[in-house]
Amino acid sequence: MKILAVESSCDETAVAIVEDGRCVLTDCIASQVDLHRIYGGVVPEIASRKHIEAIYGLADQALERTGLNRSDIDAVAVTYAPGLIGAVLVGVNFAKAAALALDKPLIPVHHIRGHIASNYLAYTELKPPFLCLVVSGGHTMIVDVQDYTKMEILGTTLDDAAGECFDKVGRVLGMPYPGGAALDKAAQQGDDSKYVLPRSKPGSNPYDMSFSGLKTAALNLIHHAEQVGEELDINSLCASFCVAVSDTLVPRVEMALQQTGYDKVAVAGGVAANSRIRGDILKMAEKVGTQVFMPPLSLCGDNAAMIGSQAYYEYLSDNIADMQLNAYATKSILGEAI
Ligand code: KG4
Ligand code: ZN
Repeated sequence: MKILAVESSCDETAVAIVEDGRCVLTDCIASQVDLHRIYGGVVPEIASRKHIEAIYGLADQALERTGLNRSDIDAVAVTYAPGLIGAVLVGVNFAKAAALALDKPLIPVHHIRGHIASNYLAYTELKPPFLCLVVSGGHTMIVDVQDYTKMEILGTTLDDAAGECFDKVGRVLGMPYPGGAALDKAAQQGDDSKYVLPRSKPGSNPYDMSFSGLKTAALNLIHHAEQVGEELDINSLCASFCVAVSDTLVPRVEMALQQTGYDKVAVAGGVAANSRIRGDILKMAEKVGTQVFMPPLSLCGDNAAMIGSQAYYEYLSDNIADMQLNAYATKSILGEAI
């Protein structure tokens, strides 16, 4: 089954064609990052406008690259939540029009379920159940993936997402948006024990996390150094920050593995590209004897291939939308049937 998949929830317009949930025939992306960089973050109105400009051309490009005709497409899938509402709406309206014109099913996909599915593309043998650490610009959660469309959230951030903190600290350090990748690179040259940053233990659920205290502590440290004219060792601050984020995530994943008894752990989302987190997950998995699944960096960030993968399983679960499908800025990953 060949699914034409559309992703437009933030600052990447993407269209992919994915076969049977596992085989990427093409994955076309038009990134807007350079445009938003001058503002230090995503400007929602600009994002929506740029999605409209790019989406039709990308869909034609996807067909051209694969040599497929429109009639070869079996279904149209789209990220319908969560994201910047104007941006998500562009993809949803395009997908509705395409499904109507092609007379094919319309499959709604939750963006975070898509991130988890990026693992199915990287590891064609991977099947649920497994545990997944989802770390992106807007979400941070530990998910019990019981089946392709049946999940339970074991723990989540109670405030900021890890990616938000990377971007905020990166911005204050003068790094280009989005700061995560630059901060990661700087951290690799630093001493991770030079600066002491907090690790929070919020609430009563041991799997829940908090990153706002860490973010504030890092920002205070930077501003204080500026005020007193102290020169900061930026690389070491980045390294200390990365290890604090990783220390917040990885022990909770280890605990969740013990609780669920799973022998498979996956990571997903833009922040899953972080070298410190990847390294610590690998070490932990080796210690507890668990198989690890980590998508290549190209599949960690937003893309449409992951939406096409998850869409196949949503389709098999009869999760099909009609022309009433709406876009949502927020929606639980557990998602009720549309
Ligand atoms: O999943 P994603 O592409 O978009 C959302 O769904 O939010 O994640 C984007 C986030 C940004 O915050 C970006 O700074 C972060 O992923 N990111 C990283 C790295 N590469 C991207 N954070 C830490 N280390 C990285 N290497
Ligand atoms: Zn994402």
